[in-house]
Amino acid sequence: VRIDVYFTPGELAASELSSRIAVVIDVLRATSTIVEALANGARAIYPTQTADDAVQLAQVLGREDVLLCGERRGLKIPGFDLGNSPLEFTADRVAGKVLVMATTNGTPALSTCAGAKQVVIASLCNLDAVVAELAGAGEDVAVVCAGRERRFALEDALCAGMLARRLRERLQRAPRTNDAAAVAMTLARRASRRLEGWLQRSAAGRQLREIGLGDDVTYCATVDRHAVVPRLRERQITL
Ligand code: MLT
Repeated sequence: VRIDVYFTPGELAASELSSRIAVVIDVLRATSTIVEALANGARAIYPTQTADDAVQLAQVLGREDVLLCGERRGLKIPGFDLGNSPLEFTADRVAGKVLVMATTNGTPALSTCAGAKQVVIASLCNLDAVVAELAGAGEDVAVVCAGRERRFALEDALCAGMLARRLRERLQRAPRTNDAAAVAMTLARRASRRLEGWLQRSAAGRQLREIGLGDDVTYCATVDRHAVVPRLRERQITL
């Protein structure tokens, strides 16, 4: 088994994923929010590349039972029902609903990975459930960090490293890894005991604090809150 980490989606071509499981990570906050929404009973989530795509798709799906969700610069998009804060996606708001979601980095990263053999959504909040699934599958894994504006994001690399370390512990034979996986695992060894502090100090963490969303960072730093494994199939994310 191979475990390769990519710090940004731009590092790989979709064709490179056809024989691997892609694990997409956007800790602050898209994949944490997707995990929260599905754990709280959302029926399905359609990720889109842009806010306009989301509006169009919501019209096609019919607005009944459909919620438009997403952010630009961290804030709810005007006219949308929900932003991208996991704390908004309570069972009261999302149970039984279909969500259409557009975020800056997270949902475009999911589109990049759509050609993979399987696409799994990971965050710190569902880390162990994803690791158990990957250990059972015994397939090569590409851990794809959404990053920020096509650049490295500390919190995604940290989560990728924790995932790779936990998966390595569960596998019978030591997996082969790329250099990015080695770096991510070293970061995770150093940082995983003071996870929230590292997330708060990351560029995305600081930006969220500046707009009054520091509680989201705390929430997204909670490891193994939910034992769910969201998957993207045929444009929809479901459990
Ligand atoms: C993204 O997709 O870029 C993020 O999740 C951004 C955010 O939540 O603020």
